[in-house]
Amino acid sequence: MTSTTDLHPASIPPRLQAIGTADAPFHALLDGSALPEGTMRRVTVGELDLLLVNTDHGVFATDDRCPHMSAPLSIGDLEGCIVACPLHDGKFDLVSGDTAQMPTTGGLDADGTYHPTWSPAGKDPKVDPPGKKAEARRLTRVRRLRYYPVRITNGAIEVAIRE
Ligand code: FES
Repeated sequence: MTSTTDLHPASIPPRLQAIGTADAPFHALLDGSALPEGTMRRVTVGELDLLLVNTDHGVFATDDRCPHMSAPLSIGDLEGCIVACPLHDGKFDLVSGDTAQMPTTGGLDADGTYHPTWSPAGKDPKVDPPGKKAEARRLTRVRRLRYYPVRITNGAIEVAIRE
């Protein structure tokens, strides 16, 4: 297990830094001892829900909102640097910010390519509901994760945000 002295910020993938954070002030949000390697948790500041994740690439801070339909990633699963959403099985790569597995509902990926609905192994194929619901699924774009700058000061995890 990593000690707090090993804590370090992970690199933010190119072009995926949250808007307005380049010159935002850093806020101490969590003592590093509360986020052992291989864990993640939600930290709320005002109306902003953040996901803090400690991986072997370092500490990431993203929105605690799935890039698909905004479910809280903090109650999903973490495997290495892949975070899995609890709602539609979407998986997201924290290192690249890309979708590692499209949600079961399908839809458009970040580049606009369409992906059909799918079912997990062992489950019956899902039938698309008729009408607007199917259209909404088809047109929902799964975006990329957005990142907030992180720094570690005296063992505390600090994140650049605007309140
Ligand atoms: S809300 Fe996360 S995969 Fe749909």
